Amino acid sequence: MGTRSFHLRVFGCQMNFYDGELIREAFIARGYQETDNPDEAQVVLFHTCSVREKAEERVHGILGSLRNRKKTDPNLVIGVIGCMADREGEELFLREEHVDIVCGSRHFPQLPSLVDRVLGGEERVLELGTAKAPVDQPIRDLTGRPASWSAHIAVMRGCDMNCTYCIVPSVRGRVESRPIKEICHEVEGLVDRGVTEIHLLGQTIDSYGRDFPVGERPSLANLLDALAEVTGLLRVRLITLHPSYVNQELVDAMARSPQFHRFLPIPMQSGSDKMLRAMKRGYNLDMYRRKVALLRDAMPDLELISDWIVGFPGETDRDHELSEAAMEEFGFLQSYVFQYSPRPGTVAFEITDDVPAEVKKKRNHRLLALQRRISSHRTPLWQGKESKLLIEKLDKDNQELWVGRIHNGHYATLPNQSGFGEGQLHRVYLNGYDGRALKAESLEMLAGPTHLPPLPALPLLG
Ligand code: SAH
Ligand code: SF4
Ligand code: F3S
Repeated sequence: MGTRSFHLRVFGCQMNFYDGELIREAFIARGYQETDNPDEAQVVLFHTCSVREKAEERVHGILGSLRNRKKTDPNLVIGVIGCMADREGEELFLREEHVDIVCGSRHFPQLPSLVDRVLGGEERVLELGTAKAPVDQPIRDLTGRPASWSAHIAVMRGCDMNCTYCIVPSVRGRVESRPIKEICHEVEGLVDRGVTEIHLLGQTIDSYGRDFPVGERPSLANLLDALAEVTGLLRVRLITLHPSYVNQELVDAMARSPQFHRFLPIPMQSGSDKMLRAMKRGYNLDMYRRKVALLRDAMPDLELISDWIVGFPGETDRDHELSEAAMEEFGFLQSYVFQYSPRPGTVAFEITDDVPAEVKKKRNHRLLALQRRISSHRTPLWQGKESKLLIEKLDKDNQELWVGRIHNGHYATLPNQSGFGEGQLHRVYLNGYDGRALKAESLEMLAGPTHLPPLPALPLLG
């Protein structure tokens, strides 16, 4: 038998995409080859999301299209992994009879052995709930990792909150954090491979460490301090915070970190106290305001990102206006807006989903339009200032320009020069704004991989 091939399709949040990398590594380490084409693959895997109904329905749609192939190719192995596996559990086998593996969020590291069990003749392999071993291995094998200047790393998984609309705590389980030492070790390994920017991931990353016994409990502040010692690590992004866990210790650590990217996701969800209460977010508008003040007193240049839910049960036009007012007040640089989707098993599922679809849609468009207006006013304010820009990629419309983000998340372009390249950090002067991004000129390259200019052709001897 030749090399076995697998196809992996990922849905959902950044954590899922990161998990996707780990799944890939596990199969490649077992000698599998990845293919983009599901029709060619002997193992087809879906790493799924349950946060909104649409995400699940898409997966069911694609699974449906594999039904006929499974009839003619019984050796095909189909696996559903992640949040949808956790939520639907055994029922998934009833709805999709041709699925072989249902594997929850805490079990995916064993996937290759689950495939072996199917190949060994076992029907319907089901692994759900808490796992014996932590999801993240103490030492991660980085050999199969694609070379890039940027990498994700999960530092905590799960959520101890109970927002009434949200499926995440029931599918991802309770908080499980990785020790600082392990994280630093992995980050050092990534930096050795040319990574200069790390995205630390967690469902509520600022609750990092709270699952450790009192007395030996690390905090996100401790983790930021430890990462500051990693030479060659130029930028650290945090995804995602919950406002309730933001405290002075964390704010101080962010402010003193030389790497902390001052572009912070701290989802507000709604600007109406009535809605925040119904959502059980654990704060009201004024408490959120105080958290932002704590952050911006220490870092006046900090830019914020928010998530919003429109059309939560009982949301009136007035409540929606309060969300718009809050978006203006805090001047978010970026927003993700979601139309409320009732999720079976959540508290809010029991309340009538009474905001009509067209009203949700209208509120969604209004919030996004307002966000665009706010961002288009904020970015030009950085003209005439200095910042640090981390080069991400070439501009897709103009190969003479590099695109990157400055220290607080605004996009800027940088004219190409010999030796410039991805992952480098430049001290820049922001000399203009082209309606889309800031224009930067490099004052000096501070750090990052050297992209050597091509050597001049030597005259032929003789
Ligand atoms: N832990 C993060 C967000 C995780 S889920 C936080 O608490 O902020 C990502 C986003 O999906 C949420 O911020 C919320 O805006 C949205 N979301 C979650 N459940 C939803 C639902 N049932 N309907 C619509 N949007 C939802
Ligand atoms: Fe869901 Fe709330 Fe936890 Fe975020 S904090 S993952 S919205 S329960
Ligand atoms: Fe979706 Fe699970 Fe992430 S529900 S948003 S994939 S934690």
